[in-house]
Amino acid sequence: MRAHGDSELKIYGIFGFPLKHTASPQMQNAALDYFRLKAIYFAFECEPARFRFLAKHLKSLALDGFNLTLPFKEEILPYLNHVSEEAKAIGAVNTVKKIGKKWVGFNTDLFGFMSGLKEAHFLVRGKTCVVLGAGGASRTVLFALAKHGAKGVVVANRTFSRVSMLVREMKRKFKQVRLEPLDLRDSRLKDVLARTDLIVNTTKVGLSPTEPSPIPENWLPDKKKILVYDLIYRPRETKLLLAARRRGHKILNGESMLLYQGAQAFQIWTGKRAPISVMRRSLTHALRNS
Ligand code: ATR
Repeated sequence: MRAHGDSELKIYGIFGFPLKHTASPQMQNAALDYFRLKAIYFAFECEPARFRFLAKHLKSLALDGFNLTLPFKEEILPYLNHVSEEAKAIGAVNTVKKIGKKWVGFNTDLFGFMSGLKEAHFLVRGKTCVVLGAGGASRTVLFALAKHGAKGVVVANRTFSRVSMLVREMKRKFKQVRLEPLDLRDSRLKDVLARTDLIVNTTKVGLSPTEPSPIPENWLPDKKKILVYDLIYRPRETKLLLAARRRGHKILNGESMLLYQGAQAFQIWTGKRAPISVMRRSLTHALRNS
């Protein structure tokens, strides 16, 4: 495309595997069209071995910027010329921009996650939180909660060794925040949940509509009303969110996180303020129709 062409045309995209139902192209192309930019955003489904090959030859990649989703957010780091301090501290990059001849990595998931909380009018400072899961998404969430002044965070995961490693690493960065690992099946989690202000699900449990909630539904607090935030956006209401809503808790799915991580990526690439309502409309449309 480039060889024949128009040096002004900007090409962006998203790498992931699998990537069948990504809504990012619709959302980003709507924003590019809004400003009538000579630019286009593609979905690049790419098997891990091919992605590694591509990352090794990043210098020759004819793109202006790209997003990364599972499972490449951590793998890309060593291949970049520069990584923002925040993305380095989190250990994950989801947005890359070509600046001159250099590839620079950012993490816009953190902003996306915090924007979701802001829309739900939830202030992190001084709050007690529970994070379910200890994978890549949990890493960003834990970093965000600690950075924004949570009083304490209990992180519960199916594989205890993984969560204890993650918590140990984050404790080194945030000495003033009480961070604690727990086994997801440990019955002490029920008491912890009874006292928490926020539950965030970062596990994959709930992605399939037939899957149960990652925690027994009767472990949700019954005295105080809290915010239950599931990073999953498809289905729009997981079993966890359904159970929480029925108990009168406030609920939030991952749609706003997806929107705002994309909005910040758009701003990084184009230098323009992201047209939030245009992006939100096309995102909602894409999620409903896929
Ligand atoms: P992501 O980057 O989306 O966080 P990941 O790194 O693969 O993806 O992490 C997936 C998370 O979902 C992990 O916390 C995983 O728990 P394990 O560390 O025990 O694997 C969790 N998870 C996946 N399937 C699960 C299941 N059936 N029950 C409980 N937790 C599950």
